[in-house]
Amino acid sequence: MYNSKIIGLGHYVPENVVTNDDLSKVMDTNDAWIQERTGIKERRHVVKGDGDTTTTMGVKAAKIAIERAGIDKDDIDFIVFATLSPDYYFPGPGVLVQRDLGIKTVGALDVRNQCSGFVYGISVADQYIKSGMYKNVLVIGSELHSHGLDMTTRGRSVSVIFGDGAGAAVLSRAEDNETGILSTHLHSEGQHAEELSLIAPGMGKRWVTDIIEEADPNDESYFPYMNGQFVFKNAVVRFSEVIMEGLQANNLEVSDIDMLVPHQANLRISQFIQKKFKLNDDQVFNNIMNYGNTTAASIPIALTEAWEQGKVKKGDLVILAAFGSGFTWGSVVIKW
Ligand code: ACO
Repeated sequence: MYNSKIIGLGHYVPENVVTNDDLSKVMDTNDAWIQERTGIKERRHVVKGDGDTTTTMGVKAAKIAIERAGIDKDDIDFIVFATLSPDYYFPGPGVLVQRDLGIKTVGALDVRNQCSGFVYGISVADQYIKSGMYKNVLVIGSELHSHGLDMTTRGRSVSVIFGDGAGAAVLSRAEDNETGILSTHLHSEGQHAEELSLIAPGMGKRWVTDIIEEADPNDESYFPYMNGQFVFKNAVVRFSEVIMEGLQANNLEVSDIDMLVPHQANLRISQFIQKKFKLNDDQVFNNIMNYGNTTAASIPIALTEAWEQGKVKKGDLVILAAFGSGFTWGSVVIKW
């Protein structure tokens, strides 16, 4: 059994920058409210009709990650794609990546774990590599939120938070068991499924035909719903727990952390964790200011930028941690 390790990282965000002031032109909000509550200054939105989708953004990020990994696309043995905003209701974007990258007919798995999707994807890839079944696994997190948000005052408490983008990692077999991914820890608590959710269209309650038939202008069921304060309270507890779980499983201390890359949910959540763990500014990576919350894409975008800026170096102890809709949460402990 060998550890897996990340050998290539890439990200892609659409060019179109949407500032808080831009949002204040279409809804009753303002820069001060958004920055004070979330830390977000701007985010990227795909311009409708310019061709970018969750899949194409994922493919662009993946191409960079594969090139940096120094492998050929045909060396990829398996694809894992995490998103809550797929191009189609079915099939999922994994197979579209297999097609668009022109990879041979390897398996493609879609992960539906929202903000924790990339951490779940890394865990899946890690197990396949550890078991010896696959050598190189491509893990993508990508989201196109902007087309599905309520961009009116009614939806402002959710729509100002989310942005579009993609990140990708290539995982491969490590040469030893001292480096690479040391452990992953995953959790769920479906009791709170509806506290952060988008319930329609779904086969359970309301399908597209019901929405069309009712044609109710007050229908909010096809926009995301978030019980913000409840999510915030749960997030800070679960982030802390799962980071500690990862450290304890490896006999490590908080003081061993070189870089924590938390899911970019809200800058206030990251700051809460940083303060609780008494970490310095250079031990926590945040870029939510520039991209908003990109759900499954947020960790791979942040990890790629941290790596590009030389903030993740060989020998560093790097922790990835996520919490989100489900609720689901998880952590990854990496010796880089
Ligand atoms: N602009 C201006 N005012 C707004 C906006 C906005 N965009 N959105 C809401 N408001 C108003 C509300 O209407 C309310 O007005 P009222 O007092 O007159 O009723 C007031 O601001 C306060 O609203 P709250 O929802 O109570 O604001 P809160 O301080 O809780 O902040 C927020 C909302 C930022 C969503 C916060 O609850 C939060 O950060 N929650 C964590 C959830 C999170 O980060 N989710 C990210 C996605 S989930 C994930 O990735 C884990």
